[in-house]
Amino acid sequence: MRTPICHRLGCAVPIFAFSHCRDVVVEVTRAGGFGVLGAATFSPEQLETELRWIDSKTGGQPYGVDVIIPSTYDAEAERSMGDLDRLIPAEHRAFMDQLLADEGVPPLPPGERERIQREIIEGRGSMTPDGARRLVEVALRHPQVRMIVSALGTPPADVTAQIRSKGVVVGAMCGKASHAKRQRDAGVELIVAQGTEAGGHTGDIASMVLLPQVVEACGPDVPVLAAGGITRGSQIAAALAMGAQGVWCGTVWLGTRESELDPFEKQAVFAARSEDAVRRRARTGKTVRMIRSKLSEAWEQPGAPAYLPTPLQGVLYNEAHARVVRARRADLYSFPVGQAVCDVNEEISVRDVMLRMQTEYLDAVERLAALSQEG
Ligand SMILES: Cc1cc2nc3c(=O)[nH]c(=O)nc-3n(C[C@H](O)[C@H](O)[C@H](O)COP(=O)(O)O)c2cc1C
Repeated sequence: MRTPICHRLGCAVPIFAFSHCRDVVVEVTRAGGFGVLGAATFSPEQLETELRWIDSKTGGQPYGVDVIIPSTYDAEAERSMGDLDRLIPAEHRAFMDQLLADEGVPPLPPGERERIQREIIEGRGSMTPDGARRLVEVALRHPQVRMIVSALGTPPADVTAQIRSKGVVVGAMCGKASHAKRQRDAGVELIVAQGTEAGGHTGDIASMVLLPQVVEACGPDVPVLAAGGITRGSQIAAALAMGAQGVWCGTVWLGTRESELDPFEKQAVFAARSEDAVRRRARTGKTVRMIRSKLSEAWEQPGAPAYLPTPLQGVLYNEAHARVVRARRADLYSFPVGQAVCDVNEEISVRDVMLRMQTEYLDAVERLAALSQEG
């Protein structure tokens, strides 16, 4: 399974793991894959702590960092760093509070509310171009970080130039071939083609259709990774057959022993079926594929306030989410997952996921080889 991107980045197999959880990043990297830490919800100080920890556990192995640099966002939020709460309109706050009050979900206890609010505000402050620049600076101080990937648009020219000047690979997420072309022309060196079935922010086009288009658009010099719906080795074989140099997975790590989700949240993920992974805007203001719940659906009803721009909707949503998790309310729980959540049914280790995927990949390749040998 070793493809050119493995040689370039220094990993043994082209299984890329997106996770907000440092333990997952470490375990994937130690198992020969390439862990990528989702940094968008960290403050620069938190990111520094996380990266030091990853460095100390991975014995010099390369890994990556992912930041969100949205092409559309609330410009005032960018200017008013640290005071995002003030920018949430009273109508939106009242709607969310009433919804949770009607459902009998208690508010957070005072100390915890302040702590969570602080974390959310600091983290969401990173979801603007300047916020992301601060994260990139932190990441570039860690020599094991060999790739930085940006989501939600083409990275600004200065960010691309800064990353490339350090010899670090610049990657970008895309959901359309036209985006991939634009990113390639802007100096992006690796493209993650993410199909609509993926968890998190996602577009309209299915992986099976998107991937060959993006591979073609990128040409021979820009490697493409396939993302969206991949939990099995047979899907890795399919992605490589379509021209990808590797796969990029997110949902499959959520149920692992190392994942950051608590037992209540993991049960919600194990219970979710493909059809429960729907695209809604309640979490960030942009379309995110996530578990359908009463909370996600309430924002879709006539009379609900219009969604706020990034990063403000996220500030509002995340506090509500913390209340829902604290109250253990599965019917209100919405977390980003992809349609392949149907394959995440029990808690196993990251290492076992890595082994299973590689064994299944070999089986798939053998099946195909046997086909071409037959009469
Ligand atoms: C919980 C969760 C959070 C995500 N957050 C981000 C993010 O911050 N940045 C990003 O580039 N992609 C994010 N994604 C998308 C992943 O990078 C990846 O493309 C996607 O999970 C792949 O599809 P899959 O979920 O079917 O494996 C997220 C995915 C999940 C499941």
